[in-house]
Amino acid sequence: MEDPQDIEIQLLIEAVYHRWGYDFRAYSKAHIKRRVLHHLSKSGLESVSHLQHQVLYNKNSFFEFFQDLSINTTEMFRDPLFFLSLREKVLPLLKDQAGFKIWHAGCASGEEVYSMAIMLLEEGLLDRCQIYATDFNPVTLKKAREAIYSLSEMKVNSSNYLKSGGKATLSDYYHARYNSAIMEKSLRDRIVFAEHNLVTDDVFGEMELVICRNTLIYFTKELQNRVLRLFYNSLGEGGFLCLGSKESLAFSDYQNVFDLFISKWKIYRRK
Ligand SMILES: C[S@@+](CC[C@H](N)C(=O)[O-])C[C@H]1O[C@@H](n2cnc3c(N)ncnc32)[C@H](O)[C@@H]1O
Repeated sequence: MEDPQDIEIQLLIEAVYHRWGYDFRAYSKAHIKRRVLHHLSKSGLESVSHLQHQVLYNKNSFFEFFQDLSINTTEMFRDPLFFLSLREKVLPLLKDQAGFKIWHAGCASGEEVYSMAIMLLEEGLLDRCQIYATDFNPVTLKKAREAIYSLSEMKVNSSNYLKSGGKATLSDYYHARYNSAIMEKSLRDRIVFAEHNLVTDDVFGEMELVICRNTLIYFTKELQNRVLRLFYNSLGEGGFLCLGSKESLAFSDYQNVFDLFISKWKIYRRK
């Protein structure tokens, strides 16, 4: 027999899909439950059914709940040695191409994609590259577009940057104003930001490199396979796919159509 609260959560997620079109039905049940309970304790609502009523009838309540469903934690040069591997092992293989495309899926507030742009600039590749950065959360995407970060976050970002093989200092790439760091316009100009839902939207171009880190971790195996098909179809032969350190193609439907390129950092190459 199912737990009544689990039934309520299932109904809530169905309601969100039918009312607002966001499909969380194939996200990991444990993740959704944690986020629903977190939202309930924050909002002081009595039960999941009360939350369902609010979410159905009040758009603002839905968007507040939606912010709690999508985890946006990120930082610049997150896992610096992953960026070092990209810099030393992957980018040299793109150097001979006249032009190439990179897609950051689940880019959150953009720190990862600005890290990539800085690295490409330092490797002399930025002007040959078109970068796409997508997320399904319009709030976080707006922050990514604006490229304004808290100056206090720049300490850890700078340390990551140096560990990732950075060739200058991170402050060369932003302007400090009051308590904010505003990323250089020349970096922003190379990036196209767009709303894209990995569950319901399609491929939008052929890429040489797809980066989707710390996002698939919240999906069930079934949904991971659906999203991996999207990435497979977005990459040309020899194209690279980068996943987060806790994510993998092992045991997926796609493990045999990619070669493992750097196992520690889950960098794969389409056969
Ligand atoms: C933890 S952040 C990862 C950010 C960055 N890739 C990193 O590793 O630092 C996960 C991001 O995935 C996004 N996300 C979750 N489900 C998504 C979906 N169905 N389509 C697109 N983005 C999604 C969230 O909004 C969030 O910004």
